[in-house]
Amino acid sequence: MQHDPLFQEPTSPSVKSASTVAAARPAVAATCVITPPERVMTPVAAATRPTLAKIRIGKHLNASAIKIIGGQDYDTRQPVPLKYTEVRKRFLSARNNFWLPNDISMGDDKVQWNTGRLTEDEMWLFKTNISYLTASDNLVPDNLNHAILENITANEMRQYLRWQMAEEANHIESYFFILESFGLDEKGQGQIFELYQQIPELIEKLNWNLQFTNNVVSCDAPIGSYEKNRALLEDLISYYIFEYLFFPCGFSQVFALARNGKLRNTAQQYQYIWRDENLHAINGRWLIRQIIVENPKLWDGKMRDRVRDIIHEAVELEAAFARATMPNGGIVGLSVKSYTDYAKMLADNICRSFDLPAMYGISEHPMPWLNEFEVKQEVNFFEGRVRDYQIGTTLEWD
Ligand SMILES: [Fe+2]
Ligand SMILES: [Fe+2]
Repeated sequence: MQHDPLFQEPTSPSVKSASTVAAARPAVAATCVITPPERVMTPVAAATRPTLAKIRIGKHLNASAIKIIGGQDYDTRQPVPLKYTEVRKRFLSARNNFWLPNDISMGDDKVQWNTGRLTEDEMWLFKTNISYLTASDNLVPDNLNHAILENITANEMRQYLRWQMAEEANHIESYFFILESFGLDEKGQGQIFELYQQIPELIEKLNWNLQFTNNVVSCDAPIGSYEKNRALLEDLISYYIFEYLFFPCGFSQVFALARNGKLRNTAQQYQYIWRDENLHAINGRWLIRQIIVENPKLWDGKMRDRVRDIIHEAVELEAAFARATMPNGGIVGLSVKSYTDYAKMLADNICRSFDLPAMYGISEHPMPWLNEFEVKQEVNFFEGRVRDYQIGTTLEWD
């Protein structure tokens, strides 16, 4: 059985730093090396965007005519016939699970924040974490809006994705509410939120997803074509990784703090966000698989190899993120190694989701205590205090 890294002193890190933030990072024994991102993503010029299809005199269609992408000769604004009933259920379930950040009391965290309870390493980890997550939660709806929705030709999926956009906005509001509740003014909040623009590893990780969005937007091939669908599929894979791998890894950092009795109110916020992201991932995986089922030629050997490369790139980015946010090797209970192994374990799960060979072989969960932070029973987190959220959705993968 693999040795459990929990509560060990972290090991020495390798450090890369942006000059603008080097002074703000915790002091480290190693010399900071200013290294630019290895991959420079050049924004792609936007192609001419297609206009929305006009409504024409049409006819009633059978559900069999509806496609998840590339559907033709019908208007996607009509909600019936309903073809993908599970997607409709997912939408209704997500709507019932909607929550509000200000339902969670933040008083204990405010005291901790203002009385120096966090170490220098913990402060750096938290600040970089929430900065990245805020930027990333902005990327997801941008991607849905610019790259995904216009390709989706089933009304029920369009509905779900619109709701997802609202949930992502709610997550941003949660991050905003956390810093506001600490008593930080606009300047103080801004100094934390802007960190994602100052750290190469964070910039590169965010730009990695952006390139997939831009590849769809700039693809001149018509909607529904093989080329467009290839770009779309790669984009959906990258954002499935976002929801299923990047987000949980990020959340684990604050859950590690909470395990040590720090920022537990903030961790509650993250728990609810994690539940939403998990459901987004479930829907994302379903969408990808359905596209493949309906367009089997897309899933050729070249595409399967490409997906494995994409997953590998994501793990490399996550490892770099770990080193940047934990420059001294980690905090009590969370090492860079266990964090990176968690990313690898999730990456292998993603491979298996698409019937691809696993790449890393992490057989033991490096952070099994994360289960404690899954939202399963409302009363555990609100101590019976607040409204009765409906837990109408299983968090199982199948
Ligand atoms: Fe989100
Ligand atoms: Fe999400």
